[in-house]
Amino acid sequence: MGHRNWKKISGIIIVSGAILLFSSLLSAAPEEAIKIDRFISPEVCGGCHSEIFEQWKNSMHHLSHKDPVYSRAAQFFRKGLTDEGEIKEAESCVKCHTPVGNRTGFPMKVSDDLSKTPEIATQGIQCDYCHSAESITRIHNNGLVLKPGHGEDDPGVKLGPFDDAAPEFHEARYSKLHTEAEICGTCHDVKHVAFGTDLETTYTEWKNSPYHSKDPKKNIPCQGCHMFQKPGIPATGSTPRPENPGSAADGSMDRPHIFTHFFVGANSYVPGLSGDKGKAGMALERLQNAATLSIDTSKIKEKKLFVTIANTGAGHSIPTGVADLRQVWLEITIKNKDNKPLFRMGALNDKQELPENTIIFRTVFGDGKGNKVINIAKARQILKDNRIKAKGKVVEIISLPDVPEKDSQVTVRLLYRGMPPEILKMIPGEPFEPLPVVEMAKVQVKI
Ligand code: HEC
Ligand code: HEC
Ligand code: HEC
Ligand code: HEC
Ligand code: HEC
Repeated sequence: MGHRNWKKISGIIIVSGAILLFSSLLSAAPEEAIKIDRFISPEVCGGCHSEIFEQWKNSMHHLSHKDPVYSRAAQFFRKGLTDEGEIKEAESCVKCHTPVGNRTGFPMKVSDDLSKTPEIATQGIQCDYCHSAESITRIHNNGLVLKPGHGEDDPGVKLGPFDDAAPEFHEARYSKLHTEAEICGTCHDVKHVAFGTDLETTYTEWKNSPYHSKDPKKNIPCQGCHMFQKPGIPATGSTPRPENPGSAADGSMDRPHIFTHFFVGANSYVPGLSGDKGKAGMALERLQNAATLSIDTSKIKEKKLFVTIANTGAGHSIPTGVADLRQVWLEITIKNKDNKPLFRMGALNDKQELPENTIIFRTVFGDGKGNKVINIAKARQILKDNRIKAKGKVVEIISLPDVPEKDSQVTVRLLYRGMPPEILKMIPGEPFEPLPVVEMAKVQVKI
């Protein structure tokens, strides 16, 4: 009898143990879905923060979900995969590119019917997402821990740089996290979810650079450049980064510095698609104040030319971000005194393609067996990374076929584009136009 009872009790223990384990697994799940109506639309924030709203509108954060280059690339990369790890990675893009949707339950994957994405989630990385972020769990693959309010009736606490803000609409609180590079770094370092390959390392590049310092006076976080930029003020490592006095909300008190929200990097094409010429222009200003070139012709008699590329303005490598898709390259031309070309390297052909021997600064991913891959879902190794580190220099030695005639002119340009046409052409659907080529730097010398 006692025996039967014991069996019963132990059965209950096992069952309740399993329930406990199950429920603790649920509560330990770091990313329980948050109800979508807890998030407040950016337009509502813009009702009082009108200047900040106008800056953020058409930024790459606003467009992170709608960006056709991203969204079409994501669909293309997802197609036809069979390997489980590759599929896992190819489905994961929405975690950063559609973060409000992903945290509220839809979309969870790239292959979900994205036309059903709730309108607020289509607005990308937005005010209430960043300003509800309390902490981070990891500095890669978006580890932001959010505590949004409960919609417009109970907006909750908005976290930011001030310790004395007392608005009526929402509560406000100082957040150290918002003043540090880590809030950016959690999305701007991307690791393959299955293979661990470093796909994007902007934060780590910054962390290992001279811009990162334990001394707060010397430390220049992402915000120190990217949230000081405004039209005409590129705010790079080689140009002034003056404060931007003003008010944070319409009619609120004047403050010595209001962090700008243009979030401009190097992308001039996608903001331009939305007709935002201002942001496209700011991307050019940023690129044009990122690097310098110099030429050493002292070994020209030995048919050698030395070109030095210095990263003087970026707080990370050039290029950074999706550095496997970006192209930064050297175009070299030598002409004699009658303007007759004697030598060319890195010149685009009429299909906007670059010749084989072009010196391109970028990362190249491999499949684990040494073969180059373009689809990041297949990236199991880094085959090459010759990018120019923050405050670093690279010297390229160019071998010439002949000693150039006296009085020849050497022109070297450093050029940037977001993606080469060879990759854009692979993406099914309406063809993309070639992305703009931006001159980052130029130098000319006479021999
Ligand atoms: C990618 C994250 C992000 C997004 C999106 C974002 N902000 Fe911010 N915002 C920040 C950070 C970070 C700071 C503080 C920077 C610092 O202290 O170094 C800030 C500062 C502020 C401040 C304080 C005033 C100032 O600018 O210095 C206000 C107000 C503000 N944001 C409102 C908004 C509104 C409104 C939107 C949407 C239109 C928005 N933010 C979108 C990250 C973001
Ligand atoms: C009814 C007007 C109003 C609306 C709507 C509004 N804010 Fe504010 N907000 C203010 C005012 C006023 C301040 C204080 C400005 C100051 O002290 O300089 C402020 C301050 C802030 C700060 C700075 C907090 C700090 O302590 O550093 C952030 C961040 C912020 N708002 C974000 C938002 C976000 C996100 C939304 C939309 C979800 C929003 N605000 C909607 C009026 C508003
Ligand atoms: C010292 C100033 C400075 C700091 C600090 C800085 N950046 Fe930049 N950033 C630049 C410049 C200049 C460019 C344009 C050149 C380039 O693309 O690298 C740029 C470009 C970018 C781009 C576009 C890259 C591309 O080629 O597509 C991203 C993304 C970016 N920064 C993010 C960040 C993040 C995240 C941080 C902090 C971890 C950061 N930046 C810190 C100056 C800075
Ligand atoms: C929730 C994730 C997330 C956070 C947090 C975040 N970013 Fe971004 N950021 C992105 C994504 C995704 C894109 C690219 C969108 C695209 O190109 O489609 C982007 C784009 C950018 C660009 C434009 C890049 C270009 O090529 O022009 C800059 C600059 C940038 N972020 C800076 C920052 C800074 C500074 C912070 C911190 C204040 C920050 N980001 C925080 C996800 C994030
Ligand atoms: C952990 C966050 C994160 C995840 C996950 C992520 N991205 Fe991004 N993505 C970014 C950031 C940050 C940028 C901006 C860097 C830059 O501009 O170079 C970006 C930019 C891009 C761009 C450049 C867009 C343009 O207009 O030039 C493409 C394409 C892209 N991502 C594709 C993908 C695909 C495909 C996936 C999924 C396989 C993915 N991303 C997953 C953070 C992320």
